[in-house]
This record gives sequence, C-alpha cells and structure tokens, in this order.
Amino acid sequence: MMVAREIRNLALVGFMGVGKSTVGRLLAEELGFAFIDTDEEIERRTGSKIPEIFASAGEAHFRSLESQLIDEMKDWSNTVIATGGGLVVQPGNLERLKEHALVACLWAGAHTIHQRTCHQTHRPLLQTEDPEGRIREMLAAREPFYRRSDLLVGTELRPVREIVSLIAHQFRDTRRNASATNEK
Ligand code: S3P
Repeated sequence: MMVAREIRNLALVGFMGVGKSTVGRLLAEELGFAFIDTDEEIERRTGSKIPEIFASAGEAHFRSLESQLIDEMKDWSNTVIATGGGLVVQPGNLERLKEHALVACLWAGAHTIHQRTCHQTHRPLLQTEDPEGRIREMLAAREPFYRRSDLLVGTELRPVREIVSLIAHQFRDTRRNASATNEK
C-alpha cells in the first residue's frame, strides 16, 4: 500500500524580504487556518527582538530557538507557518517541516531583495557595508536548500493576490490527492 505524506499545515520558506509574512497572513485567511511567523513567535517567547537575540546570545542560540519551535510543529494542524529565511538551511529542519506540511518557497533575485529590504534595520545579517553583495552570496549558498521545497514560486512581477491563490490552489490539490491515496 502506498502511503502519501501527511499534509496538515502549509509552510512558507525563502530568503529575507521575499514576502513570507505578508503572503502567509493572506493564505491563512484564504484557507481559514491559523497563522504563525517563527520570528514573531521567538520574539514573543523571549521578550526580545531578533537583533537583540543575535547581539546578546549569538546566531547559534537563535537557530536553537528555531529548532525547538520546529519540534513543536509536528503536533500542529491547519496552520500557515512563515519561517525565518535561514530556518530551512539548518540541517534536518526542511525534512522535519515536510513531515506535516507542504513547503512552498517564495523566490526573488538579489537585486529585488535588496530593493525590498534596504530601508529596514531589523535583520542583523544584512547590516553590513555592502548588503546587496551579502544578499547575493547568501542567496547563492542557500539556493540548493530552498530548491528542495515542494513548490518554488517566483514573486517578482507577480501581484501578492496571485501568489496567494497559486499556493492555496496547489495546497488544496496536494491535500486532496494525499487523502485519496491514503483512502485506497
Ligand atoms: C534570517 C531571516 C530573518 C530572521 C533572522 C535571520 C536569515 O527572517 O529569522 O534575521 O538567516 O535569513 P525573515 O526571513 O523573516 O526576514
């Protein structure tokens, strides 16, 4: 008997500034799901902003907080999960998300990401002299991880509403196919 993947949640991954939180909130509305943003949840739990966590406890500590959250997700249902841009780069995290979620990656090129993020200061990894160069390097290093998602969605020149309906459609379709396979 073939057993299809269990798909109870929808996870959004991808580089900083690709629109995971905006698209995630709208997707949650569209699907009637709860919404969680891993950065916001970590900030809520620790009572500290991400730059403070990086500055006082270091990136490795932040990554361990992300991993703890990933552990808890295996019991969740009907939730759209917007992840921090580095979450699926940590070993095992993408696989653990795929145990319960369809994973959609939002994509944009380095120049667009730079345009979208250059006036913001809440991302410690982009506070450098040459943020666009840093984005280019990190994006190239992370691309192979992002490409292992179930779905890769280009966000450039595409209205947010279109991105939302494309992912919602794919999510519903995949879930329907998975439950049909499991009923056989
Ligand atoms: C990070 C992305 C950020 C946040 C942290 C590190 C990364 O989230 O988790 O600053 O390593 O790409 P967003 O992708 O929501 O900006």
